[in-house]
Amino acid sequence: MSTQRDRMAMYNANALKIGLFGANCSSGRAVTTVPERWTGNWQDNLRLVRMADEAGIDFMLPIGRWKGYGGDTDYQGETLETLTWATGLLASTKRITVFGTVHAPLFHPVIAAKHFATADHVGAGRFGLNIVVGWNEDEFEMFGVKQREHDARYEYGQEWIDTVKLAWEGPDDFEFNGQYIKLTKVRAKPKPYGGSRPLIMNAGASATGRAFAIRNCDAFFTNAQGQSPEATAQAVREAKTEARSHGREIDVYTVGVVTCKPTQREADDYYRHCIVLQADWSAVDAILAKRKISAGTVGEDEFKRLRLHQANGMGGLPIVGDPDRVAGMLIALSEAGLRGIGISFVNYADELPYFCAEVLPRLVRAGVRVAA
Ligand SMILES: Cc1cc2nc3c(=O)[nH]c(=O)nc-3n(C[C@H](O)[C@H](O)[C@H](O)COP(=O)(O)O)c2cc1C
Repeated sequence: MSTQRDRMAMYNANALKIGLFGANCSSGRAVTTVPERWTGNWQDNLRLVRMADEAGIDFMLPIGRWKGYGGDTDYQGETLETLTWATGLLASTKRITVFGTVHAPLFHPVIAAKHFATADHVGAGRFGLNIVVGWNEDEFEMFGVKQREHDARYEYGQEWIDTVKLAWEGPDDFEFNGQYIKLTKVRAKPKPYGGSRPLIMNAGASATGRAFAIRNCDAFFTNAQGQSPEATAQAVREAKTEARSHGREIDVYTVGVVTCKPTQREADDYYRHCIVLQADWSAVDAILAKRKISAGTVGEDEFKRLRLHQANGMGGLPIVGDPDRVAGMLIALSEAGLRGIGISFVNYADELPYFCAEVLPRLVRAGVRVAA
């Protein structure tokens, strides 16, 4: 059996969960031209997940992306579709939780619920769902789907997740009569694996997105970049308290970009080499332009700051240092109340072994993780 509690704990006692974020995309989260940048291809993903599963990494979180950002590298131009990717990874592993990331407006909820149940059976209860409602107009155009106004995206998302939950947990035949979704005599079998449902996460940044996560999700991803530990702790407390006021428990996670080398100097140098000196600046500018950010719209100084922020793992928390410093930063996040972090590297498979050998034991000694 897989209980909901086991699923939320990802079947282990690690107080701080660590996952890999973005490995299904070419270049992952590093907008860089360095030749060792991540391919994102299947062979590398398979090699990576086997390594991660063996080392006790808790989850894989992909990015739902349909179109590259251009630039010199066509950043994230090649992406493996996340549900088929997750199913393949689940079939090849034993312990790790693997998320699929789904744009609700692009997937029919009954078909999606069936995809999720199938992946969950393949992984014997280890599939997780990241629900996104979309923000990138350009991507929606290629499906002939018009983006709704911001808050209406989450209204649609609510009906979508209600339908998926009914398909997972409801009676054999159900009706759905929403404002956007209308379905009759829906039959959805099998149910997810083992009598519980997949973990659900969301990463809305707006008040509406956050409220959606609190109402519907087990895990809420925030961005802790540029925040003091106190501000992070405060944000975690607020989300948890608000969830409890709805009779729900929610775990709060963040995302970070890790550069871990034997010395601080080496880590700083490699970070600067990849993220500053060899950044794919034309891709960075294209990403910002999608959000209507340019020197013309925000001014030279702010544009400079935002370019660097974006180049740096697409805005994740930079965790750069020797193993002591990297472990120290992760311990501080755990102490701030975060349940976990999705991390990325320039080249996941090259850098993960050193991280696992040096950082994970320090986290075990500090009591925030257990030995794999
Ligand atoms: C950890 C994390 C993962 C995300 N994954 C995706 C994704 O795969 N695809 C996507 O289109 N948006 C993704 N987003 C964007 C969010 O779903 C959301 O659209 C964004 O944070 C803006 O928030 P809002 O919808 O509340 O305005 C992600 C954001 C974060 C922080």
